[in-house]
Amino acid sequence: MSAHLFSEADHAELYQKYRPKWSAEFAERVVTFVKEKKSSPLLHAVDIGCGSGQSSEILAPHFQHVLGIDVSEPQIVLATANNKLGNVKYRVAPAESIPVPDGSVDLVMCLEAVHWFDHEKFNAEVDRVLVPGGVLAVAGTIYEKFPQDELTRISHQFHREGPMKDCWHEKLVKYLCTEYRNLPMPYGGAVRDESMSIDVDLTIPQYIKLQSTISPYREFCRRNPGDKGALLQNLQKSLYEATGSTQPVEELKMHVILPIFLLMVRKPQV
Ligand SMILES: C[S@@+](CC[C@H](N)C(=O)[O-])C[C@H]1O[C@@H](n2cnc3c(N)ncnc32)[C@H](O)[C@@H]1O
Repeated sequence: MSAHLFSEADHAELYQKYRPKWSAEFAERVVTFVKEKKSSPLLHAVDIGCGSGQSSEILAPHFQHVLGIDVSEPQIVLATANNKLGNVKYRVAPAESIPVPDGSVDLVMCLEAVHWFDHEKFNAEVDRVLVPGGVLAVAGTIYEKFPQDELTRISHQFHREGPMKDCWHEKLVKYLCTEYRNLPMPYGGAVRDESMSIDVDLTIPQYIKLQSTISPYREFCRRNPGDKGALLQNLQKSLYEATGSTQPVEELKMHVILPIFLLMVRKPQV
């Protein structure tokens, strides 16, 4: 279990503030797949590893009830405090013991989270909670792209080749870095969709804040308490120099593209 990587309250707040948001278009794609085998209204969805609730919210227009669960109490406290949606609820619970009855859920969704789970226990739980024809949808993002190749190169170097390169948890390396191609799924016939991305315009300091939320960086800080932000300051300097701009660094916006990999599988209808 790697929940400690997400357990600090400051991390939950940073994550909520700086992580780019999942779009309504993304939710539509998942819901369209669910509806292919279901004509009646969609009742229950569970968002697992919901963090501060950004992923759960996108399901609210499509389901009568959405439950977001996460092992991190600070994340659930924040999600609950900010929740303005009457049909969305949050609970502290692990993916390996989903607090809903058997055969009650139309969609189990996990965004940027499934790589952390115990897959044998999680997949058994997915099978227990889904209705026949229900869907498991998992999605992630890994390497950012920029319109300028040099910025993409610097970002990749920061993530995988610089001082942080050994701080990637083995589950990230095995599952996320391979874009879930190695992920054990509970059923066959997974549909893969790589057509979408999360696109954001961020100033360089905002991008740096975003990097401060990723788990390899949190692990790097744990192992190198003397760094005191130097790694991120160097990244900021390299990115700024590469833009060739003379605009103040706080004003200069970069277009950041996070390509999404989405996998969807359906429980057989028997
Ligand atoms: C990167 S965050 C993703 C949050 C949100 N889904 C999003 O896309 O913004 C991953 C979340 O998974 C949670 N997590 C990790 N292992 C878990 C487990 N076994 N059961 C439930 N949640 C877990 C962490 O606490 C963290 O909040």
